[in-house]
Amino acid sequence: MSNTFGAILTGTGSALPEKRLTNDDLSKMVDTNDEWIVQRTGIKERRIAGEGESTATLATAAARKALDAAGLKASELDLIIVATITPEMIFPSTACFVAASLGLRSTPAFDMAAACSGFIYALNTGANFIKAGQYKTVMVIGAETLSRIVDYTDRASCILFGDGAGAAILQRSNDSSKGLVYASLHADGNGAEAMKCMPGSLHPVNAAMLDTRDQYIKLKGREVYKFAVTKFAELIEDAMRVAELSKDDLRLIIPHQVNQRIIDSAMEKLEMGPEKAHVNIDRYGNTSAASIPIALDEALRAGRLSPGDAVVFVAFGAGLTWANAVLKI
Ligand SMILES: CC(C)(COP(=O)(O)OP(=O)(O)OC[C@H]1O[C@@H](n2cnc3c(N)ncnc32)[C@H](O)[C@@H]1OP(=O)(O)O)[C@@H](O)C(=O)NCCC(=O)NCCS
Repeated sequence: MSNTFGAILTGTGSALPEKRLTNDDLSKMVDTNDEWIVQRTGIKERRIAGEGESTATLATAAARKALDAAGLKASELDLIIVATITPEMIFPSTACFVAASLGLRSTPAFDMAAACSGFIYALNTGANFIKAGQYKTVMVIGAETLSRIVDYTDRASCILFGDGAGAAILQRSNDSSKGLVYASLHADGNGAEAMKCMPGSLHPVNAAMLDTRDQYIKLKGREVYKFAVTKFAELIEDAMRVAELSKDDLRLIIPHQVNQRIIDSAMEKLEMGPEKAHVNIDRYGNTSAASIPIALDEALRAGRLSPGDAVVFVAFGAGLTWANAVLKI
């Protein structure tokens, strides 16, 4: 927190596909029902990318809205970072596709993968480029089309995930007490088996893989659940302690939208009312790296956050990874 520059938030945007996949729709595909899904997860429906929609098209739509909100032209961006685990393709990076769609010809652009913690990793990275004095204006995007890697024959995982994108613009400020004032990032690769999607150098896609459906997400939901319940409250407490925020100072918690029960149990543990957390999992499910920036954009547009407010982000996901951050609006 002794940086010369601050990295302040000047605009956000989000984009969700039109197409809705409800719990009733899923109950026609696998052995499940609306009551089970709502009670165990809080999810009622999720958005699914339609034909012609992809991680980059959603990311670009969110980016354009963030540029509008910040009153900036794309040409004023110094860097684009996209957090995603469902990239446009293995290469080029999704960020390059976004940059091209925004009409940019030499702006640096790259992807980061930290699964559901990806947006916080990317936000922290973008802020550090600004704080170090290298760039003035950075676009950070979380974007996913998880529906493209979900196994819609696996009821334990297919109910959870949705598609979408959220974008945030960070800009240099001389006031380092505002903007991204704290973030901590963590990973434990020993937890890789809890959640994975295998296609890659170790397991290239081939006919055998398609036979065993190993091209899709594999999830041990119960393991992640236990890990998440513990970490969630710890990460919020850590953020409040380091940023010296009392419960009254903290306007809003924006958690990764993993499961309503996980969020509720953490809020209870922290003795905070449920209204202190911004939750939209009922409408969008878990959109991995996109979930926090979508919720941030929603909270700002709904007037839940005003200048001067402090917001805590908290996330965990495949890796395992986990992260928190404090943003002063
Ligand atoms: C996935 C999750 C909702 C499952 O809820 P849960 O309370 O842990 O449920 P369990 O996995 O223990 O399963 C309980 C029972 O429901 C069944 N079940 C699983 N999915 C079901 C579904 N969609 N519909 C109906 N029954 C289902 C199970 O087969 C099991 O049946 P059994 O008791 O006869 O064996 C929950 O564990 C979770 O949210 N985990 C974290 C999510 C996650 O990993 N997200 C990605 C990373 S951020």
